[in-house]
Amino acid sequence: MKPVHEIINNAVSGLSPHSAVLGVGGSPRKGGNSDVLLEYILSGVQEHKISTHRIQLRDLHFRPCLGCEKCRQDKICTGLADGMSLVYPFVYRSLGLVLVSPTHNYNVTAWMKAFIDRLYCFYDFQDTRPRAWSSRLAGMGRKAVLAAVAEQEDDFDMGFTLEAMQRPLESLGYEIRGELPVYGIFDRGGVKKNKDVLLAAENMGVDLAKALLLR
Ligand SMILES: Cc1cc2nc3c(=O)[nH]c(=O)nc-3n(C[C@H](O)[C@H](O)[C@H](O)COP(=O)(O)O)c2cc1C
Repeated sequence: MKPVHEIINNAVSGLSPHSAVLGVGGSPRKGGNSDVLLEYILSGVQEHKISTHRIQLRDLHFRPCLGCEKCRQDKICTGLADGMSLVYPFVYRSLGLVLVSPTHNYNVTAWMKAFIDRLYCFYDFQDTRPRAWSSRLAGMGRKAVLAAVAEQEDDFDMGFTLEAMQRPLESLGYEIRGELPVYGIFDRGGVKKNKDVLLAAENMGVDLAKALLLR
């Protein structure tokens, strides 16, 4: 039988990346504001006939990165065999990525943080000191858009939510095409009442799709 890293790696790199979009929702609240924003962003993408997949992290059985560093050898996460093993092929083959998270304590949710940390296996590290690194997702024209939703009314209370997604994705090799901060919404799905925000979310999806088509 083949070693597990070969099986997962074949599933990942046997697929050629193309103009599809993976949407990842980081809210624990089903039918909440992040779910609505993700739906509108992906509907904007679909207007340009680009295929989309949606993953709600709350439905995925996965654990945070163990820091075991096995991925440095295996080139994919082998320290944990869980729901992320199924998600990696979608990450690799989709040149577009949408991340949406509510603000939890000035930051992304624990689910979104765990998801982002599990993308560590796409890095290559050199043996120099300090270690030079590069991403195996880079140089392919990958593009992403981000949205965050918070109860409070201003930047300060949203804290690092958008930056906590933007910086790691840029390091992985994504061009960030748009960021949508949504303030002042607490009730589950309350964002549906704000037509301007829904339009902005849809337009961000349209822009992502156009950017992928022009790539
Ligand atoms: C654990 C927790 C922490 C939160 N922390 C913040 C915060 O730091 N700032 C803020 O404005 N809202 C905070 N909120 C409110 C949520 O961001 C807000 O209700 C949001 O609309 C939830 O989005 P969702 O429906 O997609 O889950 C917090 C909510 C929870 C449950």
